[in-house]
Amino acid sequence: HEVITKAVLPVAGLGTRFLPASKAIPKEMLPIIDKPLVQYAVEEAIEIGIKEIIFITSPEKYSIEKHFNRNDEIELRLEKSGKSGFIDKLNPKIFSDIKFHYINQENQNGLGHAILQAEKFIGDESFAILLPDDLFVSKKSCLNQLLDIHTNKNASVIAVNIIDEDNIHNYGVINPGSQKDDAIEIDDIIEKPSADKAPSNMAVCGRYILSSNIFKHLKSTEFDKSGEIQLTDAIKSLLSDEKIYAKIYEGEKFDCGSKQGFVHATIALALRDKSISDDIIKIIKEID
Ligand code: G1P
Repeated sequence: HEVITKAVLPVAGLGTRFLPASKAIPKEMLPIIDKPLVQYAVEEAIEIGIKEIIFITSPEKYSIEKHFNRNDEIELRLEKSGKSGFIDKLNPKIFSDIKFHYINQENQNGLGHAILQAEKFIGDESFAILLPDDLFVSKKSCLNQLLDIHTNKNASVIAVNIIDEDNIHNYGVINPGSQKDDAIEIDDIIEKPSADKAPSNMAVCGRYILSSNIFKHLKSTEFDKSGEIQLTDAIKSLLSDEKIYAKIYEGEKFDCGSKQGFVHATIALALRDKSISDDIIKIIKEID
């Protein structure tokens, strides 16, 4: 079966919801405890065997590139001051055979437009997409759950989760067809429908494994009302050529694109970090 070796991470967005924090620091670099949000997604990708990470980014976000580059100078300083225990946090071994690419997205015309920028790096392989705002915590990672179905079906697969009616208008929503084991055939997909138009309660949640045929469809996808090229519209168009599956993600999900989700993730991960959890519980109990 086909091995997935490349992942695309769109990170060019302005991060307006996190201003002023996102003025000089890309919102993807804001930490959940001690690790930038974007690194959680990168680690999820590397864990399934991804070898090339393609960031769709902008020049102001240079710190993302700096973060994933080796830093030999600080490594040397850590060594000299007897702090070599921190070296793997600085220059993680898992990054050493990963290629990081940075593509500047000059015009920001939506998620579909961002993904299209990666075309020349992907060639004709299937590839993963991770939206770093969505942070997943589960025994088996979200991407790994998708990989199982991709391996079985040799087809594109998208992670979905169940969302209540009040919030469904914020997501891409699938119309599910027949289901065998974990794999749900997608009959149709629509971007951000109003609750009464939503074909189900299964919302697209930030992880995809797509066939490279998506690029052809992205190129013929028209701008939507808000002037954006939607990935969802290209996926809908791809459905007329090939089967695409959905997988209901099993695990926890934090929407770190919102302040509430970001704080939720911070609290949840802090409570699970044994080096600080006792103190955190105490602190929370003492809050008036
Ligand atoms: C994007 C996609 C949407 C998906 C969502 C998941 O929307 O367009 O289909 O459900 O990510 O987080 P955005 O959140 O960028 O508006």
